[in-house]
Amino acid sequence: KEMVIYDKIDSTNNAAKLLAKNAAPHGSVVIALQQTSGKGRLGRSFYSPEATGIYMTAILRPTLPVQQALQITSAAAVAVSRGIKDAAGIETQIKWVNDVYYQGKKLCGILTESSVENGKIDYAVVGIGINVSTDTFPQELKEKATCLSHAAGQVDSDLLIARVLDNLDGVYSQLGTGAFMEEYRTRSCVIGKEVTVLNMGEPFIAKAVDIDNDAHLIVKTADERYLTISSGEVTLQG
Ligand code: BTN
Repeated sequence: KEMVIYDKIDSTNNAAKLLAKNAAPHGSVVIALQQTSGKGRLGRSFYSPEATGIYMTAILRPTLPVQQALQITSAAAVAVSRGIKDAAGIETQIKWVNDVYYQGKKLCGILTESSVENGKIDYAVVGIGINVSTDTFPQELKEKATCLSHAAGQVDSDLLIARVLDNLDGVYSQLGTGAFMEEYRTRSCVIGKEVTVLNMGEPFIAKAVDIDNDAHLIVKTADERYLTISSGEVTLQG
């Protein structure tokens, strides 16, 4: 296993993908103090200046059918939640599919990128960005985000990184079984709520009813149809 730490890099996910292509073993990790083009989901950017966040990416090599790939990302959300509980003492929620929330605001984002070869996952990089301090965030981000320093006070970053990685190991061994999904559902802040679903096509409002063991979101539409959503994103109403 390798652990690479950069003062500054474009994106730890990009660095991890390069390492993975060059045969870096399962469990290798890239950490940066600052990212110059941190990436978010759905083509968005992730604000990543120095001293405001923890930016890390783990390389995983799961033997998982592609249809179950969403489990990687939901497992990571559970691992991050457990790591935060261990190191910072607070209980967080998960907004489908893998945002970690505290008191209705985003505390951590996760970007999983997988490479598929011959119908199998060759590697997946799991990028984790945890807000440490939002004090210098632009106003529009500040409104939706929270950070460890507000939620839990001073937190030891090294300990938090270690606890997240440890917990990632734990859930990784359960991939394919869905064993961690019970905790995922318990932590979910969308089940039972009215949500706006943004995936392909027009956004629509529906009620989130459940999340299955492959981390698909099941929603009930206004005309009482049940749909299984496996990509995109939801926002909470109100
Ligand atoms: C999101 O909220 O849309 C996902 C954000 C993921 C951010 C992390 S920070 C470390 C890793 N490197 C990146 O470029 N992105 C992820």
